[in-house]
Amino acid sequence: MLLKSISLSLVFISSSLAQKIVDLSGKHWTLTDQQGNVSIPGAVPSNAYLDLFAAKVIPDPLYGTNEINTAWVAFTNWTYISAPISGLSPGVPTYLVFDGIDTIASITFCNQSVGVVDNQFRQWTFDVSSILSSCFSSPVLSLSFTSPVDVANYLENPSNPELSCPTCFEIAFVYTGREFIRKQQIDFGWNWAPAYAPTGIWQPAYVVQLESKVLPEIYVSNSMVDIYRRGQLNNLSPDQTQRWVVNVSIDYLGTLPPNSRLVASIPGFLSGPLSGVNVRNGTITGSGLVKGSPKLWWPVGYGSQTLYNMQIEIFPANSIIPIAFVTKRVGFRTIVLNQGLITTDQESLGIAPGANWHFEINGHEIFVKGSSVVPPEVFWPSVTESEFRLLFETVVAGNQNMLRVWGGGSYLPDYAYDLADEMGILIWAEMAYSDAIYPITTNFLENAIAEAYYQIRRVNHHPSLALWSGNNEIEFGLDIIGAIDPPLVAVSEALYSELFLNVLIHSVFDNSRSISYLPSSITNGYLSLNHSAEMPIIERYNNLSAGSVFGNSDYYNYDVTQVFNLSTYPIGRFATEFGFHSHSNVLSYAGVMPQSELSFNSSTIVYRNREYPLNYSTFFSSYSDPPAAENLTAQSLGGLGQMSQGITYWYPSNSTASPATIFDLQVFATQIFQSEVYRSQIAFYRRGSGMPERTLGSLYWVLNEIWSAPCKASVGHDGRWKGLHYGARDIYEPVVIAPYYDQPSGAVEVWATSDLWNTVQGTASIAWYDWSGKSLTNRTADHQAPITIGAVNSTQFWSFDANTLPFNSTNAVAFLTINATVNGVRYSHINRFTPLPLSNPLVISAIQNPLLTFRSVGNVFTVQSQAVAIFVWLEHPAGVRGYWSDNGFWMLPGKRQVTFTVQVDTTGGKWTKSVAIKSLYSLISP
Ligand SMILES: *[C@@H]1O[C@H](CO)[C@@H](O)[C@H](O)[C@H]1NC(C)=O
Ligand SMILES: *[C@@H]1O[C@H](CO)[C@@H](O)[C@H](O)[C@H]1NC(C)=O
Ligand SMILES: *[C@@H]1O[C@H](CO)[C@@H](O)[C@H](O)[C@H]1NC(C)=O
Ligand SMILES: *[C@@H]1O[C@H](CO)[C@@H](O)[C@H](O)[C@H]1NC(C)=O
Ligand SMILES: *[C@@H]1O[C@H](CO)[C@@H](O)[C@H](O)[C@H]1NC(C)=O
Ligand SMILES: *[C@@H]1O[C@H](CO)[C@@H](O)[C@H](O)[C@H]1NC(C)=O
Ligand SMILES: *[C@@H]1O[C@H](CO)[C@@H](O)[C@H](O)[C@H]1NC(C)=O
Repeated sequence: MLLKSISLSLVFISSSLAQKIVDLSGKHWTLTDQQGNVSIPGAVPSNAYLDLFAAKVIPDPLYGTNEINTAWVAFTNWTYISAPISGLSPGVPTYLVFDGIDTIASITFCNQSVGVVDNQFRQWTFDVSSILSSCFSSPVLSLSFTSPVDVANYLENPSNPELSCPTCFEIAFVYTGREFIRKQQIDFGWNWAPAYAPTGIWQPAYVVQLESKVLPEIYVSNSMVDIYRRGQLNNLSPDQTQRWVVNVSIDYLGTLPPNSRLVASIPGFLSGPLSGVNVRNGTITGSGLVKGSPKLWWPVGYGSQTLYNMQIEIFPANSIIPIAFVTKRVGFRTIVLNQGLITTDQESLGIAPGANWHFEINGHEIFVKGSSVVPPEVFWPSVTESEFRLLFETVVAGNQNMLRVWGGGSYLPDYAYDLADEMGILIWAEMAYSDAIYPITTNFLENAIAEAYYQIRRVNHHPSLALWSGNNEIEFGLDIIGAIDPPLVAVSEALYSELFLNVLIHSVFDNSRSISYLPSSITNGYLSLNHSAEMPIIERYNNLSAGSVFGNSDYYNYDVTQVFNLSTYPIGRFATEFGFHSHSNVLSYAGVMPQSELSFNSSTIVYRNREYPLNYSTFFSSYSDPPAAENLTAQSLGGLGQMSQGITYWYPSNSTASPATIFDLQVFATQIFQSEVYRSQIAFYRRGSGMPERTLGSLYWVLNEIWSAPCKASVGHDGRWKGLHYGARDIYEPVVIAPYYDQPSGAVEVWATSDLWNTVQGTASIAWYDWSGKSLTNRTADHQAPITIGAVNSTQFWSFDANTLPFNSTNAVAFLTINATVNGVRYSHINRFTPLPLSNPLVISAIQNPLLTFRSVGNVFTVQSQAVAIFVWLEHPAGVRGYWSDNGFWMLPGKRQVTFTVQVDTTGGKWTKSVAIKSLYSLISP
């Protein structure tokens, strides 16, 4: 209730009586190319692709294979020119403020040079007071961009005399040299994403004038609030009995009068002037101690998301009129990534020696359940708050409590953090570096620090912020380099450690004491942590010891015969990346390609598939040219081939249906397969909470699609849940039961796992049926018993030998069930197990037609089955966005009710008439 009423005042407000702020957003711009061939209306925030599409110069760049027809846009030098900016007052301090420019541009104001920008992730401000004073008419603002693809090419070219880092390199996808440019790295292509490399003013821009001749004035450009327990240091578990400290820091333009006061209030907990006020180089900082105990903020599932409004004001000495006023919405919580050594107390609980690698929220260990999130659109100016809201609703509905913001994309906008604060989603934030070795020239490092300061300070007040990671996968990548080109390791490690262990760590520690810093998304943790050392973290790298467990894992295996083999999964403290690709839903594809292209290996789908088997010796080399089109196709077919192998190895297939039906069923099969691969791994990592490795997290790759294409996402670009999102939601339930099958020996163990902070007591059972749904063998193999699961732990419930079952295992399926009540809340989970794969011909001949039917009353659908139904799938039509209370489920003969939650409906409720149903049986007999 409280949350709803506050959510309108999300962004900080800066105001002062006589300040003039001219918003440059809107359509009063002209976009031209350098050759003068194009001159069209431009917009801010926007980019050349979006403006050219709006002007009908190019087709929709995201449709079909238009990425290739519109690639010239990325190779063009574009200029954005504003309409004359009228109404400015001469003779007063005047600034240009850009919250984001993408990426390399020289800027003029009234035809005079203002400066050159070269970082998409920085806020840029320029003092144009003197230019304005000598400007005889309303000034025009102009930004001349150089093609980012050209610049990257130039910077990486060995014949370039200015080549700053001959040993830098990247995993190259479409355009090379991305490591030299502070631009979203995915803009250069990725092994699941297109390459558009847009150009434009992608964030709002303003002209700011401090007009008052009598009162001092400033403009607040950024602000930071850090809330921590007294004595807290980054990366270390704080003393939860200490009082809260609030540290406030405001960045401003203009001149602050001497002895200004910084005043902050959180009603009931903080009021009055802050102490230790320090003014330095455009920043005023101070701090205060919180009185009493504000309610804590918790992630979803562990308590409420209490948020407080905070007001910050700056007063000149002896004045009661503030010259700056900032509001922020904050929360009280501590969140730590604990990588400390395993203690003897922990060892006595059965935890293997080594080091921890887990999160603690308000002093409690938490099992993290979530995924990685990538930019929801190819073009950020197209992203809206409502798109993030819908996406985050699916995160919470999917039983996830954390998202990792992948370092190949951009830093999340404030409104996304606001939504995460409200919804209780923890955000693992990554700095925008991924899978490359970056330069460490003075210019590059200064640019990187300015970027980090701006981004860290901008979002630090959000209680959802859980971690800063320096980059995605670079430390892990050193191992891959070692395997391919051993001599390159030492030089790469030197570059890596300078940027991420010597430089960016200080950007975090200088600004925040509340947030842990992780040098890279995948690590074996640190050997030492010393906040007063010049290099505070010394990484462990591969200094491991046998019998000990360190660090987190990143694991992909495309050998479809091994994907359910538990002995192939990594044993670690936390699983940060894993996955397999599948097709997007046919209805999702239908929105972006002609009907005629809707088949497994159509040219459009081959074109859009970037999930090709990476050939590291080709890709992981310096200055590689983009792969040739013929080889892209060959690789794309390889990626699609992995999906084909998966579905034919594990599921029935029937090729006698019509082509359209076949594609729909193939897509369905790839989604079932994908979902089952993840469910098997997630169950393994969750059971790990009760094993010596004490695994405390699972973040699968990946939540969302950047466009509709074959990929590892669980939610389509159009918001349609793929099979995986339902499957992951199920195995991310707080209390789950799951089978663990050692195929070679036939041993099956059934474990129950809970991530609740209370002991769970309940009943578990295993019951066998034949495919018609009849109970087997008078229940001699069945078992039912009470069960107790400790807090954030796992318990073995039962075990049996799948080779000696007292019935014919071709016609047998076990349903596993757990029911428990904890503090009056009921938890239940159902799982299933078959001794033989569903592709076994004898199993296929034993499976019976479930003769599925359904009826609906409003959004409530009652499904009826006549036999055991496998992977029952309900499909809602285009025109409605939302999700089912369950989907892809198995059921015994009888009835089952499922409800559809509508997020957006453009059909006026008519969608309920066009729901379709299928199941695995459709693959046997369409
Ligand atoms: C874009 O500008 C760069 C740098 O000035 C220049 O080298 C390049 O030729 C220009 N490209 C086009 C297509 O005009
Ligand atoms: C002050 O800020 C400016 C602009 O950000 C920067 O160039 C300069 O190095 C800073 N000076 C100090 C002493 O930090
Ligand atoms: C998990 O539960 C088992 C008992 O089933 C217990 O021996 C073990 O110490 C627990 N693990 C932790 C980390 O508490
Ligand atoms: C495609 O790859 C093959 C083998 O990987 C290589 O021999 C061939 O030269 C490549 N074709 C082009 C055009 O790069
Ligand atoms: C099951 O039980 C019935 C009656 O108790 C008995 O007649 C039958 O032989 C049993 N079947 C098996 C397979 O044990
Ligand atoms: C199990 O049933 C299948 C037919 O479903 C049959 O072919 C097979 O021989 C049976 N196996 C045994 C051990 O009875
Ligand atoms: C495949 O489907 C067709 C059409 O429904 C059916 O006639 C045929 O028996 C099926 N084939 C198999 C092997 O089940």
